[in-house]
Amino acid sequence: MSSALTFEHVFKPAGNASAHTLLLLHGTGGNEHDLLPLGQLMPGANLLSPRGQVLENGMPRFFRRLAEGVFDIEDLKFRAAELADFINDTGAKHHFSTRDLTAVGFSNGANIAGALLLLRPDALGAAVLFRAMVPLVPDTLPTLTHTPVLISNGRIDPLVSAEETEQLAALLRSAGASVEVSWQNSGHELTDRDVVTAREWLAQQRAR
Ligand code: MLT
Repeated sequence: MSSALTFEHVFKPAGNASAHTLLLLHGTGGNEHDLLPLGQLMPGANLLSPRGQVLENGMPRFFRRLAEGVFDIEDLKFRAAELADFINDTGAKHHFSTRDLTAVGFSNGANIAGALLLLRPDALGAAVLFRAMVPLVPDTLPTLTHTPVLISNGRIDPLVSAEETEQLAALLRSAGASVEVSWQNSGHELTDRDVVTAREWLAQQRAR
Protein backbone atom coordinates (compact mmCIF):
# COMPACT_ATOMS: atom_id res chain seq x y z
CA MET A 1 0.00 0.00 0.00
CA SER A 2 1.56 3.29 -1.05
CA SER A 3 2.07 5.84 1.70
CA ALA A 4 3.52 8.51 -0.60
CA LEU A 5 0.49 10.75 -0.39
CA THR A 6 0.38 10.80 3.40
CA PHE A 7 3.36 13.12 3.88
CA GLU A 8 3.37 16.74 2.85
CA HIS A 9 6.80 17.09 1.30
CA VAL A 10 9.13 18.87 -1.10
CA PHE A 11 11.07 16.86 -3.66
CA LYS A 12 13.72 18.71 -5.64
CA PRO A 13 15.18 16.43 -8.29
CA ALA A 14 18.81 16.83 -9.21
CA GLY A 15 18.03 16.04 -12.84
CA ASN A 16 20.71 13.39 -12.92
CA ALA A 17 19.68 9.74 -12.75
CA SER A 18 22.67 8.68 -10.67
CA ALA A 19 22.42 11.52 -8.13
CA HIS A 20 22.66 10.95 -4.41
CA THR A 21 19.61 11.94 -2.34
CA LEU A 22 19.51 13.94 0.89
CA LEU A 23 16.50 13.29 3.11
CA LEU A 24 15.98 16.44 5.18
CA LEU A 25 14.20 15.97 8.51
CA HIS A 26 13.26 19.12 10.43
CA GLY A 27 13.07 19.74 14.17
CA THR A 28 9.99 20.31 16.34
CA GLY A 29 7.88 23.15 14.99
CA GLY A 30 9.61 23.09 11.61
CA ASN A 31 8.29 22.09 8.24
CA GLU A 32 9.37 20.71 4.87
CA HIS A 33 10.91 24.05 3.83
CA ASP A 34 13.14 24.65 6.86
CA LEU A 35 16.15 22.53 5.99
CA LEU A 36 16.18 23.04 2.22
CA PRO A 37 19.21 25.36 2.59
CA LEU A 38 21.10 22.27 3.80
CA GLY A 39 21.06 21.17 0.18
CA GLN A 40 24.41 23.01 0.19
CA LEU A 41 25.80 19.99 2.05
CA MET A 42 25.90 18.14 -1.24
CA PRO A 43 25.36 20.30 -4.34
CA GLY A 44 23.80 18.26 -7.12
CA ALA A 45 21.86 15.90 -4.82
CA ASN A 46 18.14 15.23 -4.98
CA LEU A 47 16.40 16.78 -1.96
CA LEU A 48 13.48 15.05 -0.26
CA SER A 49 12.01 16.93 2.66
CA PRO A 50 8.86 15.62 4.36
CA ARG A 51 6.85 17.34 7.09
CA GLY A 52 6.36 15.44 10.35
CA GLN A 53 2.77 14.30 10.74
CA VAL A 54 2.36 14.66 14.49
CA LEU A 55 1.18 17.99 15.87
CA GLU A 56 2.22 19.08 19.36
CA ASN A 57 0.34 22.26 20.17
CA GLY A 58 0.29 22.99 16.46
CA MET A 59 4.00 22.23 15.98
CA PRO A 60 4.87 19.48 13.49
CA ARG A 61 7.03 16.60 14.77
CA PHE A 62 7.93 13.18 13.42
CA PHE A 63 6.60 11.26 16.46
CA ARG A 64 4.84 11.89 19.77
CA ARG A 65 6.65 12.60 23.00
CA LEU A 66 5.27 12.38 26.50
CA ALA A 67 7.60 15.08 27.85
CA GLU A 68 10.85 16.73 26.78
CA GLY A 69 13.18 13.84 25.91
CA VAL A 70 10.59 11.19 26.89
CA PHE A 71 9.32 9.51 23.76
CA ASP A 72 6.12 7.58 23.03
CA ILE A 73 7.90 4.44 21.83
CA GLU A 74 4.86 2.79 20.24
CA ASP A 75 4.15 5.94 18.24
CA LEU A 76 7.84 6.24 17.33
CA LYS A 77 7.85 2.68 15.94
CA PHE A 78 4.67 3.34 13.96
CA ARG A 79 5.93 6.67 12.60
CA ALA A 80 9.34 5.27 11.67
CA ALA A 81 7.66 2.49 9.67
CA GLU A 82 5.37 5.01 7.97
CA LEU A 83 8.30 7.27 7.05
CA ALA A 84 10.39 4.33 5.81
CA ASP A 85 7.52 3.25 3.54
CA PHE A 86 7.18 6.80 2.26
CA ILE A 87 10.91 7.00 1.47
CA ASN A 88 10.83 3.67 -0.35
CA ASP A 89 7.72 4.65 -2.31
CA THR A 90 9.21 8.02 -3.23
CA GLY A 91 12.46 6.35 -4.32
CA ALA A 92 10.51 4.02 -6.59
CA LYS A 93 8.51 6.92 -8.02
CA HIS A 94 11.49 9.20 -8.66
CA HIS A 95 14.00 6.45 -9.47
CA PHE A 96 16.52 6.91 -6.67
CA SER A 97 18.02 4.18 -4.57
CA THR A 98 17.64 4.36 -0.79
CA ARG A 99 21.17 2.94 -0.52
CA ASP A 100 22.27 6.23 -2.06
CA LEU A 101 20.24 8.29 0.37
CA THR A 102 21.64 10.15 3.38
CA ALA A 103 19.23 11.27 6.08
CA VAL A 104 20.09 14.72 7.47
CA GLY A 105 18.10 15.38 10.61
CA PHE A 106 18.04 18.10 13.23
CA SER A 107 16.81 17.44 16.79
CA ASN A 108 13.45 15.66 16.42
CA GLY A 109 14.42 14.99 12.79
CA ALA A 110 17.73 13.48 13.95
CA ASN A 111 15.81 11.29 16.37
CA ILE A 112 13.47 9.89 13.72
CA ALA A 113 16.54 9.34 11.50
CA GLY A 114 18.14 7.42 14.39
CA ALA A 115 14.95 5.37 14.70
CA LEU A 116 15.07 4.60 10.96
CA LEU A 117 18.65 3.36 11.35
CA LEU A 118 17.65 1.12 14.26
CA LEU A 119 14.28 -0.11 12.97
CA ARG A 120 14.19 0.30 9.17
CA PRO A 121 17.75 0.51 7.82
CA ASP A 122 16.40 -0.41 4.37
CA ALA A 123 15.23 3.20 4.05
CA LEU A 124 18.64 4.89 4.08
CA GLY A 125 22.32 4.42 3.37
CA ALA A 126 23.91 6.95 5.73
CA ALA A 127 22.90 9.59 8.26
CA VAL A 128 23.95 13.00 9.52
CA LEU A 129 22.43 13.55 12.95
CA PHE A 130 22.48 17.07 14.39
CA ARG A 131 21.67 17.26 18.14
CA ALA A 132 20.61 13.63 18.32
CA MET A 133 19.37 11.62 21.31
CA VAL A 134 18.92 7.86 21.77
CA PRO A 135 15.47 7.47 20.17
CA LEU A 136 14.90 3.94 21.46
CA VAL A 137 16.77 0.73 22.10
CA PRO A 138 15.36 -1.91 19.74
CA ASP A 139 14.64 -5.48 20.88
CA THR A 140 16.89 -6.77 18.11
CA LEU A 141 19.80 -4.80 16.73
CA PRO A 142 19.75 -4.22 12.96
CA THR A 143 22.74 -4.98 10.77
CA LEU A 144 24.31 -1.62 10.00
CA THR A 145 27.70 -2.92 8.88
CA HIS A 146 29.75 0.02 7.59
CA THR A 147 26.71 2.34 7.49
CA PRO A 148 28.32 5.78 7.87
CA VAL A 149 26.83 7.99 10.57
CA LEU A 150 27.92 11.45 11.67
CA ILE A 151 26.61 12.69 15.02
CA SER A 152 27.17 16.42 15.43
CA ASN A 153 26.12 17.49 18.91
CA GLY A 154 26.65 20.56 21.11
CA ARG A 155 28.93 20.56 24.14
CA ILE A 156 26.58 22.81 26.11
CA ASP A 157 23.27 21.45 24.84
CA PRO A 158 20.79 21.58 27.74
CA LEU A 159 18.66 18.88 26.07
CA VAL A 160 21.28 16.26 25.11
CA SER A 161 24.07 15.21 27.48
CA ALA A 162 27.51 14.04 26.41
CA GLU A 163 26.64 10.70 28.02
CA GLU A 164 23.52 10.26 25.88
CA THR A 165 25.50 11.20 22.79
CA GLU A 166 28.08 8.52 23.58
CA GLN A 167 25.28 6.00 24.29
CA LEU A 168 23.82 6.66 20.86
CA ALA A 169 27.23 6.26 19.20
CA ALA A 170 27.84 3.01 21.12
CA LEU A 171 24.41 1.63 20.21
CA LEU A 172 24.91 2.32 16.51
CA ARG A 173 28.47 0.95 16.61
CA SER A 174 27.26 -2.22 18.29
CA ALA A 175 25.03 -2.72 15.22
CA GLY A 176 28.12 -2.34 13.00
CA ALA A 177 27.75 1.30 11.90
CA SER A 178 30.84 3.48 11.29
CA VAL A 179 30.08 6.35 13.63
CA GLU A 180 31.92 9.64 13.91
CA VAL A 181 31.03 12.02 16.75
CA SER A 182 31.78 15.70 16.24
CA TRP A 183 31.45 18.14 19.16
CA GLN A 184 30.46 21.74 18.54
CA ASN A 185 30.91 24.64 20.95
CA SER A 186 27.20 25.30 21.06
CA GLY A 187 23.88 24.43 22.60
CA HIS A 188 20.93 22.80 20.84
CA GLU A 189 20.93 25.23 17.92
CA LEU A 190 22.48 24.38 14.58
CA THR A 191 25.64 26.35 13.78
CA ASP A 192 27.76 27.12 10.73
CA ARG A 193 30.37 24.77 12.18
CA ASP A 194 27.86 21.89 12.01
CA VAL A 195 27.28 22.64 8.35
CA VAL A 196 30.99 22.79 7.52
CA THR A 197 31.66 19.57 9.46
CA ALA A 198 28.82 17.73 7.74
CA ARG A 199 29.81 18.97 4.28
CA GLU A 200 33.40 17.77 4.77
CA TRP A 201 32.26 14.44 6.23
CA LEU A 202 29.87 13.85 3.31
CA ALA A 203 32.61 14.67 0.80
CA GLN A 204 34.88 12.12 2.51
CA GLN A 205 32.16 9.45 2.36
CA ARG A 206 31.55 10.15 -1.32
CA ALA A 207 35.28 9.85 -2.07
CA ARG A 208 35.45 6.32 -0.61
C1 MLT B 1 12.90 18.48 20.35
O1 MLT B 1 12.63 19.54 20.86
O2 MLT B 1 12.61 18.23 19.20
C2 MLT B 1 13.56 17.47 21.19
O3 MLT B 1 14.60 17.98 21.85
C3 MLT B 1 13.93 16.26 20.43
C4 MLT B 1 12.72 15.39 20.28
O4 MLT B 1 11.75 15.59 20.99
O5 MLT B 1 12.77 14.47 19.45
